[in-house]
Amino acid sequence: MLVRKAQTDDAAAIAKVNVDTWRSAFCDIISDAYLEALSYTNREKNFRELICQSGDLSFAYVAEDEAGAIVGFTMGGREREGINNYAGEIYALYVSEPWQKNGVGKMLVKAATGQLFQSGISSLLLWTLAQGSACGFYEKLGGRLIINKPFAIEKDEIMFAAYGWDNIEVLL
Ligand SMILES: CC(C)(COP(=O)(O)OP(=O)(O)OC[C@H]1O[C@@H](n2cnc3c(N)ncnc32)[C@H](O)[C@@H]1OP(=O)(O)O)[C@@H](O)C(=O)NCCC(=O)NCCS
Repeated sequence: MLVRKAQTDDAAAIAKVNVDTWRSAFCDIISDAYLEALSYTNREKNFRELICQSGDLSFAYVAEDEAGAIVGFTMGGREREGINNYAGEIYALYVSEPWQKNGVGKMLVKAATGQLFQSGISSLLLWTLAQGSACGFYEKLGGRLIINKPFAIEKDEIMFAAYGWDNIEVLL
């Protein structure tokens, strides 16, 4: 497994991992109609823009299997809401279903936090679905539940949870 910085040409593969993972991981939490309406093309466009913007503080990494297929990705940068003075944030972290629980998520978190740490950031926050299985993963990596907050996904109010690390050196 290779973890490397994402290129704009990776946007389509990243969008596929993202949409497919939403559909498989969140089917019991988010409505079928919303998940069915997710568009590879729209997400590809968004991810292409985010990859273009990545620099010292913003990052985008992909995990590639031995055949060169992208099986996971992470994106992030500065923390966006000023919660408890956390400085860095992982905006997205997804591993395609067949590859989950093989250490790929942990490798991506390590790459992300490594870049943040090199840029002088030492604390991290991220948001995840409060009912999602990823909470167990973040707790395993030493994350502390900071706050729960509902976000509207179309007509539904979905509860999200923020996990924080006061010192990201434990993730490096
Ligand atoms: C959450 C996710 C990113 C984790 O990545 P992963 O590659 O499956 O996790 P890893 O294999 O790197 O796991 C690292 C450690 O956490 C543990 N772990 C993984 N998922 C876990 C879970 N759901 N609950 C508890 N522990 C978990 C692993 O057993 C492993 O422990 P070890 O170091 O003792 O062996 C991935 O499963 C995923 O994309 N899930 C669906 C989408 C999602 O919810 N993304 C997060 C959105 S914010």
